[in-house]
Amino acid sequence: MATCPLLFLFFFSLNQLQAYNISPNLSGFGAVVTDLDITALLQEPDSEATAAKLKAQLHKHKYLHITNNPALPWEDQLSFVELFGLPYDESLHVNRAKNPVEKDPRVAVFSNDPNFGLTSVGVEGFHSDGNVVPIPHAANFLYCEQAVAGGDTDLAPLRDVYRLLKENEEVDGEESKFDIDRMNFVSAHVEGLSQPLTYNHPNTGEKTMFFGLGSLSGLYTLDGAPMTQEETDRVTFRIQQAIDKTKISHKWTSGDLLIMDNLAVAHRASPGTQDLSAGTRIMRRVTLSGENVLRRRGDISSQVEYPKRCGEKVCLVSLQKVLDYTPGTGDFLKVSRAGDMCRYHLDSSADVARINTLEKGRLGRELVEEVGSPHWMGGRKEGTGKDLIIDWSFGLEGGDFDGTDEYVSTGTPYPWHQPSGQPNDCDGPGSEPCLFIGEGGGFFDFACEKKDWEGGRTPGPEITWSDGVRRMYNVEIMCEIEKDVVIRAAEAERKNSYEGKDRFVNGDGGDDVELDKVSGEL
Ligand SMILES: [Fe+2]
Repeated sequence: MATCPLLFLFFFSLNQLQAYNISPNLSGFGAVVTDLDITALLQEPDSEATAAKLKAQLHKHKYLHITNNPALPWEDQLSFVELFGLPYDESLHVNRAKNPVEKDPRVAVFSNDPNFGLTSVGVEGFHSDGNVVPIPHAANFLYCEQAVAGGDTDLAPLRDVYRLLKENEEVDGEESKFDIDRMNFVSAHVEGLSQPLTYNHPNTGEKTMFFGLGSLSGLYTLDGAPMTQEETDRVTFRIQQAIDKTKISHKWTSGDLLIMDNLAVAHRASPGTQDLSAGTRIMRRVTLSGENVLRRRGDISSQVEYPKRCGEKVCLVSLQKVLDYTPGTGDFLKVSRAGDMCRYHLDSSADVARINTLEKGRLGRELVEEVGSPHWMGGRKEGTGKDLIIDWSFGLEGGDFDGTDEYVSTGTPYPWHQPSGQPNDCDGPGSEPCLFIGEGGGFFDFACEKKDWEGGRTPGPEITWSDGVRRMYNVEIMCEIEKDVVIRAAEAERKNSYEGKDRFVNGDGGDDVELDKVSGEL
Protein backbone atom coordinates (compact mmCIF):
# COMPACT_ATOMS: atom_id res chain seq x y z
CA MET A 1 0.00 0.00 0.00
CA ALA A 2 1.20 3.47 -0.75
CA THR A 3 2.28 6.08 1.73
CA CYS A 4 0.08 9.12 2.11
CA PRO A 5 1.72 12.24 3.59
CA LEU A 6 2.73 13.87 0.29
CA LEU A 7 -0.85 13.76 -0.86
CA PHE A 8 -1.98 16.35 1.67
CA LEU A 9 -0.29 19.00 -0.43
CA PHE A 10 -2.19 18.01 -3.50
CA PHE A 11 -5.52 18.07 -1.74
CA PHE A 12 -4.93 21.53 -0.30
CA SER A 13 -3.77 22.69 -3.67
CA LEU A 14 -7.05 21.57 -5.20
CA ASN A 15 -8.97 23.31 -2.46
CA GLN A 16 -7.48 26.66 -3.43
CA LEU A 17 -9.99 26.74 -6.30
CA GLN A 18 -12.76 27.17 -3.78
CA ALA A 19 -12.92 30.94 -3.54
CA TYR A 20 -16.28 30.78 -1.76
CA ASN A 21 -18.17 29.00 0.98
CA ILE A 22 -21.20 26.79 0.46
CA SER A 23 -23.71 25.69 3.11
CA PRO A 24 -26.44 23.21 2.21
CA ASN A 25 -29.85 24.12 3.61
CA LEU A 26 -31.00 21.92 6.49
CA SER A 27 -34.02 20.81 4.45
CA GLY A 28 -31.68 19.17 1.94
CA PHE A 29 -33.04 21.41 -0.81
CA GLY A 30 -30.74 24.20 -1.98
CA ALA A 31 -27.50 25.66 -0.68
CA VAL A 32 -26.29 29.13 0.23
CA VAL A 33 -23.08 30.38 -1.38
CA THR A 34 -21.25 33.20 0.37
CA ASP A 35 -18.03 35.10 -0.34
CA LEU A 36 -18.39 34.71 -4.09
CA ASP A 37 -17.81 38.03 -5.84
CA ILE A 38 -19.00 37.35 -9.37
CA THR A 39 -17.36 40.39 -10.95
CA ALA A 40 -14.03 39.50 -9.35
CA LEU A 41 -14.41 35.84 -10.36
CA LEU A 42 -14.64 36.84 -14.02
CA GLN A 43 -11.10 38.22 -13.80
CA GLU A 44 -9.62 35.10 -12.24
CA PRO A 45 -7.69 32.61 -14.39
CA ASP A 46 -9.51 29.64 -12.84
CA SER A 47 -13.00 31.09 -13.35
CA GLU A 48 -14.04 28.21 -15.64
CA ALA A 49 -12.91 25.64 -13.10
CA THR A 50 -14.88 27.45 -10.41
CA ALA A 51 -17.95 27.46 -12.65
CA ALA A 52 -17.52 23.71 -13.26
CA LYS A 53 -17.43 23.20 -9.51
CA LEU A 54 -20.55 25.32 -9.04
CA LYS A 55 -22.30 23.36 -11.77
CA ALA A 56 -21.64 20.07 -10.02
CA GLN A 57 -22.87 21.58 -6.75
CA LEU A 58 -25.95 22.93 -8.52
CA HIS A 59 -26.89 19.44 -9.67
CA LYS A 60 -26.34 18.12 -6.18
CA HIS A 61 -28.28 20.81 -4.26
CA LYS A 62 -30.82 21.74 -6.99
CA TYR A 63 -30.44 25.49 -6.48
CA LEU A 64 -27.67 27.80 -5.29
CA HIS A 65 -28.40 31.05 -3.49
CA ILE A 66 -25.39 33.30 -4.11
CA THR A 67 -25.51 36.20 -1.69
CA ASN A 68 -24.15 39.71 -1.58
CA ASN A 69 -23.46 40.79 -5.15
CA PRO A 70 -24.98 44.29 -5.03
CA ALA A 71 -25.09 46.31 -8.26
CA LEU A 72 -23.95 43.38 -10.39
CA PRO A 73 -23.81 44.73 -13.97
CA TRP A 74 -26.00 42.85 -16.45
CA GLU A 75 -22.91 42.31 -18.60
CA ASP A 76 -21.22 40.48 -15.71
CA GLN A 77 -24.32 38.36 -15.08
CA LEU A 78 -24.24 37.37 -18.73
CA SER A 79 -20.48 36.66 -18.69
CA PHE A 80 -20.94 34.56 -15.56
CA VAL A 81 -23.54 32.40 -17.30
CA GLU A 82 -21.21 32.03 -20.30
CA LEU A 83 -18.78 30.22 -18.00
CA PHE A 84 -21.43 27.50 -17.71
CA GLY A 85 -22.42 27.29 -21.36
CA LEU A 86 -24.52 29.08 -23.94
CA PRO A 87 -26.98 31.75 -22.70
CA TYR A 88 -30.38 31.43 -24.33
CA ASP A 89 -31.78 34.14 -26.58
CA GLU A 90 -34.98 35.09 -24.74
CA SER A 91 -36.49 36.64 -27.86
CA LEU A 92 -37.03 33.10 -29.21
CA HIS A 93 -39.83 32.49 -26.70
CA VAL A 94 -43.16 32.69 -28.50
CA ASN A 95 -45.02 33.85 -25.40
CA ARG A 96 -42.53 36.54 -24.41
CA ALA A 97 -43.00 40.26 -24.83
CA LYS A 98 -40.07 42.67 -24.86
CA ASN A 99 -39.31 45.76 -22.81
CA PRO A 100 -37.20 48.79 -23.81
CA VAL A 101 -35.06 48.44 -20.67
CA GLU A 102 -33.67 45.13 -21.95
CA LYS A 103 -30.26 45.79 -23.47
CA ASP A 104 -29.56 42.30 -24.78
CA PRO A 105 -31.99 39.60 -25.98
CA ARG A 106 -30.26 37.15 -23.63
CA VAL A 107 -31.04 39.23 -20.54
CA ALA A 108 -34.70 39.55 -19.53
CA VAL A 109 -35.81 42.17 -17.01
CA PHE A 110 -38.92 41.63 -14.87
CA SER A 111 -40.66 44.11 -12.62
CA ASN A 112 -43.98 45.02 -11.03
CA ASP A 113 -43.73 48.36 -12.86
CA PRO A 114 -43.79 48.34 -16.71
CA ASN A 115 -41.40 51.28 -16.71
CA PHE A 116 -38.70 49.03 -15.26
CA GLY A 117 -39.32 45.65 -16.87
CA LEU A 118 -41.79 43.06 -18.05
CA THR A 119 -44.70 42.50 -15.69
CA SER A 120 -46.67 39.36 -14.82
CA VAL A 121 -43.94 36.96 -15.96
CA GLY A 122 -43.81 33.58 -14.25
CA VAL A 123 -47.05 34.00 -12.32
CA GLU A 124 -49.09 31.53 -14.41
CA GLY A 125 -48.29 28.59 -12.16
CA PHE A 126 -45.35 26.41 -11.14
CA HIS A 127 -43.23 25.61 -14.16
CA SER A 128 -39.79 24.94 -15.51
CA ASP A 129 -38.48 27.55 -17.92
CA GLY A 130 -38.32 26.75 -21.60
CA ASN A 131 -41.68 25.00 -21.71
CA VAL A 132 -42.39 26.43 -25.18
CA VAL A 133 -39.18 25.22 -26.85
CA PRO A 134 -38.15 21.71 -27.90
CA ILE A 135 -35.05 21.68 -25.69
CA PRO A 136 -35.81 23.12 -22.24
CA HIS A 137 -33.21 25.29 -20.55
CA ALA A 138 -30.59 23.68 -18.35
CA ALA A 139 -30.56 26.36 -15.67
CA ASN A 140 -31.81 29.83 -14.90
CA PHE A 141 -29.79 32.60 -13.27
CA LEU A 142 -32.17 35.03 -11.58
CA TYR A 143 -30.66 38.21 -10.14
CA CYS A 144 -32.41 40.58 -7.76
CA GLU A 145 -31.55 44.17 -8.54
CA GLN A 146 -34.16 45.59 -6.23
CA ALA A 147 -36.14 43.55 -3.70
CA VAL A 148 -39.54 44.33 -2.16
CA ALA A 149 -41.24 42.76 0.85
CA GLY A 150 -43.53 39.91 -0.22
CA GLY A 151 -42.01 39.60 -3.69
CA ASP A 152 -40.99 35.97 -3.15
CA THR A 153 -40.16 33.34 -5.74
CA ASP A 154 -41.55 29.93 -4.82
CA LEU A 155 -39.46 26.83 -5.54
CA ALA A 156 -40.42 23.14 -5.58
CA PRO A 157 -37.98 20.19 -5.65
CA LEU A 158 -39.23 18.03 -8.53
CA ARG A 159 -37.63 14.84 -7.21
CA ASP A 160 -39.77 15.13 -4.06
CA VAL A 161 -42.87 16.14 -6.01
CA TYR A 162 -42.45 13.00 -8.11
CA ARG A 163 -41.96 10.83 -5.03
CA LEU A 164 -45.13 12.17 -3.36
CA LEU A 165 -47.16 11.65 -6.51
CA LYS A 166 -45.98 8.04 -6.79
CA GLU A 167 -46.72 7.38 -3.12
CA ASN A 168 -50.24 8.74 -3.48
CA GLU A 169 -50.68 6.75 -6.63
CA GLU A 170 -50.22 3.61 -4.58
CA VAL A 171 -52.58 4.48 -1.72
CA ASP A 172 -55.37 6.21 -3.60
CA GLY A 173 -56.92 3.04 -4.90
CA GLU A 174 -57.86 1.85 -8.35
CA GLU A 175 -60.52 4.42 -9.14
CA SER A 176 -58.27 7.44 -8.89
CA LYS A 177 -55.10 5.75 -10.00
CA PHE A 178 -53.12 7.32 -12.77
CA ASP A 179 -49.64 6.61 -14.02
CA ILE A 180 -47.65 9.79 -14.45
CA ASP A 181 -44.75 7.80 -15.92
CA ARG A 182 -46.85 7.23 -19.07
CA MET A 183 -47.93 10.85 -19.49
CA ASN A 184 -46.61 13.84 -21.40
CA PHE A 185 -46.95 17.49 -20.51
CA VAL A 186 -48.33 19.39 -23.50
CA SER A 187 -47.71 23.09 -24.08
CA ALA A 188 -50.73 25.37 -24.36
CA HIS A 189 -48.69 27.83 -26.41
CA VAL A 190 -46.97 25.72 -29.08
CA GLU A 191 -49.10 23.24 -30.99
CA GLY A 192 -47.77 19.71 -30.90
CA LEU A 193 -45.02 20.46 -28.39
CA SER A 194 -44.89 18.10 -25.46
CA GLN A 195 -42.35 16.73 -23.01
CA PRO A 196 -42.29 13.60 -20.87
CA LEU A 197 -44.07 14.48 -17.62
CA THR A 198 -41.55 12.32 -15.75
CA TYR A 199 -38.05 11.32 -16.77
CA ASN A 200 -34.62 10.83 -15.30
CA HIS A 201 -32.45 13.89 -14.92
CA PRO A 202 -29.72 13.64 -17.57
CA ASN A 203 -26.96 14.65 -15.15
CA THR A 204 -27.97 12.97 -11.90
CA GLY A 205 -30.17 10.10 -13.06
CA GLU A 206 -32.73 11.06 -10.41
CA LYS A 207 -36.43 10.99 -11.18
CA THR A 208 -37.69 14.43 -12.06
CA MET A 209 -40.60 16.08 -13.87
CA PHE A 210 -41.34 18.66 -16.54
CA PHE A 211 -44.51 20.74 -16.70
CA GLY A 212 -45.98 24.21 -16.69
CA LEU A 213 -49.14 24.54 -14.65
CA GLY A 214 -52.03 26.98 -15.01
CA SER A 215 -52.38 28.62 -18.40
CA LEU A 216 -49.16 26.95 -19.59
CA SER A 217 -50.81 23.50 -19.65
CA GLY A 218 -52.55 22.11 -22.70
CA LEU A 219 -54.24 18.71 -22.67
CA TYR A 220 -51.80 16.08 -21.45
CA THR A 221 -51.33 12.76 -23.20
CA LEU A 222 -51.29 9.20 -21.86
CA ASP A 223 -49.22 6.73 -23.89
CA GLY A 224 -49.29 9.34 -26.65
CA ALA A 225 -53.11 9.65 -26.74
CA PRO A 226 -54.75 12.94 -25.74
CA MET A 227 -56.37 13.06 -22.31
CA THR A 228 -59.55 14.98 -21.59
CA GLN A 229 -59.64 18.34 -19.86
CA GLU A 230 -61.05 16.65 -16.76
CA GLU A 231 -58.27 14.06 -16.72
CA THR A 232 -55.62 16.70 -17.28
CA ASP A 233 -57.07 18.85 -14.50
CA ARG A 234 -56.97 15.90 -12.15
CA VAL A 235 -53.28 15.37 -12.86
CA THR A 236 -52.34 19.03 -12.50
CA PHE A 237 -54.38 19.22 -9.28
CA ARG A 238 -52.36 16.32 -7.87
CA ILE A 239 -49.12 17.93 -8.97
CA GLN A 240 -50.11 21.16 -7.25
CA GLN A 241 -51.00 19.23 -4.08
CA ALA A 242 -47.54 17.65 -4.04
CA ILE A 243 -45.92 21.02 -4.69
CA ASP A 244 -47.79 22.56 -1.77
CA LYS A 245 -46.23 19.97 0.54
CA THR A 246 -42.68 20.50 -0.67
CA LYS A 247 -42.31 24.09 -1.84
CA ILE A 248 -40.26 26.81 -0.20
CA SER A 249 -40.45 30.57 -0.68
CA HIS A 250 -37.27 32.42 -1.45
CA LYS A 251 -37.35 35.87 0.11
CA TRP A 252 -35.09 38.10 -1.92
CA THR A 253 -32.45 40.51 -0.75
CA SER A 254 -31.13 42.99 -3.30
CA GLY A 255 -27.88 41.57 -4.68
CA ASP A 256 -28.99 37.90 -4.52
CA LEU A 257 -28.35 35.64 -7.48
CA LEU A 258 -30.31 32.40 -7.58
CA ILE A 259 -29.13 29.62 -9.86
CA MET A 260 -31.80 26.99 -10.39
CA ASP A 261 -31.29 23.61 -12.01
CA ASN A 262 -34.22 24.07 -14.36
CA LEU A 263 -34.70 20.31 -14.74
CA ALA A 264 -34.77 19.70 -10.98
CA VAL A 265 -36.72 22.70 -9.70
CA ALA A 266 -40.13 24.11 -10.62
CA HIS A 267 -40.69 27.73 -9.74
CA ARG A 268 -43.33 30.44 -9.74
CA ALA A 269 -43.43 34.17 -9.12
CA SER A 270 -45.70 34.62 -6.10
CA PRO A 271 -48.65 37.08 -6.35
CA GLY A 272 -46.69 39.55 -4.18
CA THR A 273 -44.16 39.99 -6.99
CA GLN A 274 -46.70 42.12 -8.85
CA ASP A 275 -47.70 44.31 -5.91
CA LEU A 276 -46.48 47.87 -6.41
CA SER A 277 -47.52 49.08 -2.95
CA ALA A 278 -44.29 47.74 -1.40
CA GLY A 279 -42.06 49.53 -3.92
CA THR A 280 -40.46 48.73 -7.25
CA ARG A 281 -39.21 45.17 -7.74
CA ILE A 282 -36.56 44.62 -10.44
CA MET A 283 -35.22 41.20 -11.45
CA ARG A 284 -32.90 40.10 -14.27
CA ARG A 285 -32.83 36.63 -15.75
CA VAL A 286 -30.35 34.84 -17.98
CA THR A 287 -31.10 31.24 -18.87
CA LEU A 288 -28.57 28.58 -19.77
CA SER A 289 -29.47 26.73 -22.96
CA GLY A 290 -30.32 23.06 -22.65
CA GLU A 291 -28.26 20.54 -24.59
CA ASN A 292 -30.57 17.58 -25.15
CA VAL A 293 -34.22 16.85 -25.64
CA LEU A 294 -35.85 15.29 -22.61
CA ARG A 295 -36.05 11.55 -22.95
CA ARG A 296 -37.09 8.76 -20.72
CA ARG A 297 -34.03 6.98 -22.04
CA GLY A 298 -31.09 8.12 -24.13
CA ASP A 299 -30.23 7.08 -27.66
CA ILE A 300 -27.50 4.50 -27.40
CA SER A 301 -26.70 4.71 -31.10
CA SER A 302 -24.99 8.07 -30.56
CA GLN A 303 -21.23 7.61 -30.50
CA VAL A 304 -20.89 11.30 -29.57
CA GLU A 305 -22.88 10.91 -26.37
CA TYR A 306 -21.76 7.39 -25.56
CA PRO A 307 -18.24 6.44 -26.66
CA LYS A 308 -18.11 2.67 -26.89
CA ARG A 309 -15.97 -0.32 -27.77
CA CYS A 310 -17.57 -3.55 -28.90
CA GLY A 311 -16.18 -7.06 -28.77
CA GLU A 312 -17.60 -10.36 -29.89
CA LYS A 313 -20.58 -10.35 -27.53
CA VAL A 314 -20.54 -7.21 -25.43
CA CYS A 315 -19.97 -3.51 -25.76
CA LEU A 316 -18.36 -1.34 -23.11
CA VAL A 317 -19.84 2.13 -23.04
CA SER A 318 -18.59 5.29 -21.32
CA LEU A 319 -21.00 7.66 -19.59
CA GLN A 320 -18.30 10.29 -19.28
CA LYS A 321 -19.90 12.74 -21.69
CA VAL A 322 -23.32 12.67 -20.10
CA LEU A 323 -22.28 12.97 -16.46
CA ASP A 324 -20.85 16.15 -15.04
CA TYR A 325 -18.29 14.78 -12.62
CA THR A 326 -15.61 17.36 -12.07
CA PRO A 327 -12.10 16.80 -10.75
CA GLY A 328 -12.09 17.34 -7.03
CA THR A 329 -15.81 17.83 -6.43
CA GLY A 330 -18.98 15.94 -5.65
CA ASP A 331 -19.75 12.32 -5.10
CA PHE A 332 -19.23 9.36 -7.28
CA LEU A 333 -21.87 6.74 -7.35
CA LYS A 334 -22.27 3.47 -5.54
CA VAL A 335 -22.34 0.25 -7.50
CA SER A 336 -26.13 -0.07 -7.50
CA ARG A 337 -26.69 3.57 -8.40
CA ALA A 338 -24.13 3.38 -11.19
CA GLY A 339 -26.00 0.36 -12.53
CA ASP A 340 -29.17 2.45 -12.54
CA MET A 341 -27.37 5.13 -14.54
CA CYS A 342 -26.30 2.54 -17.10
CA ARG A 343 -29.88 1.27 -17.43
CA TYR A 344 -31.28 4.79 -17.66
CA HIS A 345 -28.87 5.99 -20.28
CA LEU A 346 -28.51 2.84 -22.36
CA ASP A 347 -30.89 -0.04 -22.02
CA SER A 348 -32.69 -2.09 -19.40
CA SER A 349 -30.08 -4.82 -19.90
CA ALA A 350 -27.10 -2.52 -19.22
CA ASP A 351 -25.12 -2.64 -15.98
CA VAL A 352 -21.83 -1.48 -14.56
CA ALA A 353 -19.03 -3.21 -16.46
CA ARG A 354 -17.14 -6.11 -14.92
CA ILE A 355 -13.79 -6.63 -16.58
CA ASN A 356 -13.49 -10.36 -16.05
CA THR A 357 -12.20 -11.50 -19.42
CA LEU A 358 -9.17 -10.62 -21.49
CA GLU A 359 -11.37 -9.21 -24.22
CA LYS A 360 -13.18 -6.87 -21.85
CA GLY A 361 -9.86 -5.81 -20.39
CA ARG A 362 -8.64 -4.81 -23.82
CA LEU A 363 -11.88 -3.01 -24.68
CA GLY A 364 -11.80 -1.19 -21.37
CA ARG A 365 -8.28 0.05 -21.89
CA GLU A 366 -9.09 1.26 -25.41
CA LEU A 367 -12.15 3.10 -24.18
CA VAL A 368 -10.26 4.79 -21.35
CA GLU A 369 -7.57 5.89 -23.77
CA GLU A 370 -10.18 7.35 -26.12
CA VAL A 371 -12.15 9.21 -23.48
CA GLY A 372 -9.11 10.38 -21.51
CA SER A 373 -10.35 9.97 -17.96
CA PRO A 374 -10.40 7.05 -15.55
CA HIS A 375 -13.40 4.75 -15.42
CA TRP A 376 -14.58 2.55 -12.64
CA MET A 377 -16.16 -0.82 -12.91
CA GLY A 378 -18.39 -2.17 -10.22
CA GLY A 379 -17.20 -5.06 -8.15
CA ARG A 380 -19.80 -7.66 -7.25
CA LYS A 381 -20.52 -7.33 -3.57
CA GLU A 382 -21.60 -10.41 -1.67
CA GLY A 383 -22.48 -9.75 1.93
CA THR A 384 -21.35 -6.67 3.75
CA GLY A 385 -18.45 -5.43 5.82
CA LYS A 386 -15.73 -8.02 6.32
CA ASP A 387 -17.59 -10.56 4.21
CA LEU A 388 -17.25 -8.38 1.16
CA ILE A 389 -16.10 -10.48 -1.76
CA ILE A 390 -15.14 -8.84 -4.98
CA ASP A 391 -15.43 -11.03 -8.02
CA TRP A 392 -12.45 -9.86 -9.99
CA SER A 393 -10.10 -12.28 -11.59
CA PHE A 394 -8.51 -10.43 -14.42
CA GLY A 395 -4.76 -9.96 -14.03
CA LEU A 396 -2.24 -8.11 -16.11
CA GLU A 397 0.66 -10.51 -15.95
CA GLY A 398 -0.18 -13.99 -17.11
CA GLY A 399 -3.04 -16.30 -16.39
CA ASP A 400 -5.59 -18.50 -18.09
CA PHE A 401 -9.26 -19.17 -18.41
CA ASP A 402 -10.81 -21.53 -15.92
CA GLY A 403 -12.93 -23.49 -18.38
CA THR A 404 -15.67 -20.90 -18.56
CA ASP A 405 -14.99 -17.39 -19.70
CA GLU A 406 -13.52 -16.39 -16.35
CA TYR A 407 -9.89 -15.42 -16.52
CA VAL A 408 -7.72 -16.54 -13.61
CA SER A 409 -4.48 -14.67 -13.14
CA THR A 410 -1.33 -16.57 -12.24
CA GLY A 411 1.11 -13.67 -12.49
CA THR A 412 0.03 -10.71 -10.45
CA PRO A 413 -3.43 -11.84 -9.36
CA TYR A 414 -4.63 -8.47 -8.22
CA PRO A 415 -2.61 -5.77 -9.95
CA TRP A 416 -4.64 -3.04 -8.27
CA HIS A 417 -3.08 -4.04 -4.97
CA GLN A 418 0.18 -2.52 -6.11
CA PRO A 419 0.93 0.89 -4.57
CA SER A 420 -0.86 3.55 -6.57
CA GLY A 421 -0.14 6.57 -4.40
CA GLN A 422 -3.80 7.54 -4.16
CA PRO A 423 -5.22 8.71 -0.83
CA ASN A 424 -7.80 5.94 -0.85
CA ASP A 425 -5.00 3.42 -0.98
CA CYS A 426 -4.05 3.75 2.66
CA ASP A 427 -6.35 1.54 4.67
CA GLY A 428 -4.91 -1.88 4.05
CA PRO A 429 -6.13 -5.03 2.30
CA GLY A 430 -9.86 -5.39 1.81
CA SER A 431 -10.64 -1.71 2.26
CA GLU A 432 -10.63 -0.78 -1.41
CA PRO A 433 -13.17 -2.97 -3.16
CA CYS A 434 -13.84 -0.69 -6.14
CA LEU A 435 -11.55 -0.73 -9.14
CA PHE A 436 -10.92 1.56 -11.99
CA ILE A 437 -8.88 1.72 -15.15
CA GLY A 438 -6.59 4.68 -15.48
CA GLU A 439 -3.78 5.94 -17.64
CA GLY A 440 -2.18 3.32 -19.85
CA GLY A 441 -4.91 0.84 -19.03
CA GLY A 442 -3.53 0.36 -15.54
CA PHE A 443 -5.79 -0.95 -12.78
CA PHE A 444 -6.20 0.79 -9.43
CA ASP A 445 -8.30 0.05 -6.38
CA PHE A 446 -10.04 2.47 -4.06
CA ALA A 447 -12.84 2.74 -1.51
CA CYS A 448 -16.24 2.63 -3.20
CA GLU A 449 -17.58 5.58 -1.24
CA LYS A 450 -15.98 8.89 -0.57
CA LYS A 451 -14.73 9.07 2.96
CA ASP A 452 -13.29 11.41 5.57
CA TRP A 453 -9.57 11.53 6.02
CA GLU A 454 -7.12 14.00 7.52
CA GLY A 455 -7.08 16.23 4.45
CA GLY A 456 -10.85 16.52 4.04
CA ARG A 457 -13.21 14.38 2.01
CA THR A 458 -12.07 12.42 -1.00
CA PRO A 459 -14.27 12.50 -4.06
CA GLY A 460 -12.33 9.67 -5.65
CA PRO A 461 -8.94 8.32 -6.56
CA GLU A 462 -5.99 10.51 -7.27
CA ILE A 463 -3.77 9.68 -10.19
CA THR A 464 -1.33 11.21 -12.61
CA TRP A 465 -2.57 11.44 -16.17
CA SER A 466 -0.55 11.75 -19.37
CA ASP A 467 -0.07 15.51 -19.01
CA GLY A 468 1.88 14.90 -15.82
CA VAL A 469 -0.70 16.63 -13.61
CA ARG A 470 -1.90 14.79 -10.56
CA ARG A 471 -5.64 15.13 -10.09
CA MET A 472 -8.37 13.83 -7.88
CA TYR A 473 -11.16 12.32 -9.92
CA ASN A 474 -14.76 11.47 -9.60
CA VAL A 475 -14.36 8.33 -11.63
CA GLU A 476 -16.54 7.99 -14.69
CA ILE A 477 -18.84 5.05 -15.16
CA MET A 478 -18.18 2.29 -17.64
CA CYS A 479 -21.22 0.22 -18.56
CA GLU A 480 -21.51 -3.20 -20.11
CA ILE A 481 -24.26 -3.90 -22.61
CA GLU A 482 -25.10 -6.61 -25.09
CA LYS A 483 -23.62 -6.00 -28.51
CA ASP A 484 -26.91 -6.92 -30.18
CA VAL A 485 -28.69 -4.05 -28.42
CA VAL A 486 -26.17 -1.56 -29.75
CA ILE A 487 -26.46 -2.94 -33.26
CA ARG A 488 -30.25 -2.73 -33.18
CA ALA A 489 -30.09 0.87 -31.97
CA ALA A 490 -27.67 1.79 -34.74
CA GLU A 491 -29.89 0.13 -37.35
CA ALA A 492 -32.92 2.03 -36.08
CA GLU A 493 -30.94 5.26 -36.29
CA ARG A 494 -29.90 4.51 -39.87
CA LYS A 495 -33.46 3.69 -40.82
CA ASN A 496 -34.59 7.02 -39.40
CA SER A 497 -32.03 8.92 -41.40
CA TYR A 498 -32.99 7.05 -44.60
CA GLU A 499 -36.53 8.31 -44.15
CA GLY A 500 -35.10 11.81 -44.18
CA LYS A 501 -37.13 12.93 -41.18
CA ASP A 502 -35.59 15.33 -38.72
CA ARG A 503 -37.56 14.49 -35.64
CA PHE A 504 -37.19 14.72 -31.95
CA VAL A 505 -38.79 12.17 -29.71
CA ASN A 506 -40.36 13.04 -26.41
CA GLY A 507 -39.65 9.80 -24.63
CA ASP A 508 -41.10 6.32 -24.66
CA GLY A 509 -44.68 6.37 -25.82
CA GLY A 510 -44.62 10.13 -26.12
CA ASP A 511 -45.68 12.37 -28.93
CA ASP A 512 -43.19 12.76 -31.73
CA VAL A 513 -43.01 16.25 -33.11
CA GLU A 514 -41.44 17.20 -36.40
CA LEU A 515 -38.73 19.68 -35.60
CA ASP A 516 -39.35 22.03 -38.51
CA LYS A 517 -43.01 22.29 -37.55
CA VAL A 518 -42.06 23.55 -34.11
CA SER A 519 -39.07 25.67 -34.97
CA GLY A 520 -41.08 27.72 -37.43
CA GLU A 521 -43.10 29.08 -34.56
CA LEU A 522 -40.27 29.88 -32.18
FE1 LIG B 1 -39.91 30.99 -14.99
